[in-house]
Amino acid sequence: MTEPILTHDQVASYIEDGYLLVSGLIPCDVVQRAEAAMWRCMGLDRNDPGSWSERTADHGHYEDAELTAVYTDKLLTAAWQLSEGGLEREDFRPPKGGFAINSFPTDSAWAPHGPHIDHSIKEHGHESFPAAFRVATMTFLNDVEPHGGGTVVWPGSHRKIAALARSNPDYYRPMWVLGGELDKADIGECVEIVPQGGDVLFYHVFCAHSGSLNATDYPRLAMNMKW
Ligand SMILES: [Fe+2]
Repeated sequence: MTEPILTHDQVASYIEDGYLLVSGLIPCDVVQRAEAAMWRCMGLDRNDPGSWSERTADHGHYEDAELTAVYTDKLLTAAWQLSEGGLEREDFRPPKGGFAINSFPTDSAWAPHGPHIDHSIKEHGHESFPAAFRVATMTFLNDVEPHGGGTVVWPGSHRKIAALARSNPDYYRPMWVLGGELDKADIGECVEIVPQGGDVLFYHVFCAHSGSLNATDYPRLAMNMKW
């Protein structure tokens, strides 16, 4: 039997809010090697801002064992715990590569990009029912200051968006239709996540969230993975 990683309170918080930040889930040495690997994969020198000052973002897919090492048994077990049943622990496997969502500094004032739900790009053809994925993760590879490009989330939005979808299942079956009408779900105010390297943000398929501008002077490095 698999030993749970998350407490009942953590699971309850995820169910209530639609997201959960788990601090320090990835061991320090593993995340430090992953951060170094990310710089290597991007072909940039973290100590030479001239090598990355013109960049705004990096969304590379990198097959590197030191990147995928962050997908530890503990992370996979936590994802399984939050996946609302229907899958076995063994169904949660580490990916072959890391999907980077790296945000570089900008001179613009800090602001979120605006709420969205994942898998709602029309051309990708995902459907709202059954859910396009069970749980998503953002794994942060370095410390993020306030307004440093942390993910922004709308607490409880997953329940409101699910209710909107259920109000007209045939109409909202295409994820892109649902994702295009979040203004009808009254999702309220957002919260800026300020993570440390090694923290993992888990979020629900219907959790409204957003990237945000990085108004600090150092890149934010993270990877996204869904099951
Ligand atoms: Fe997203």
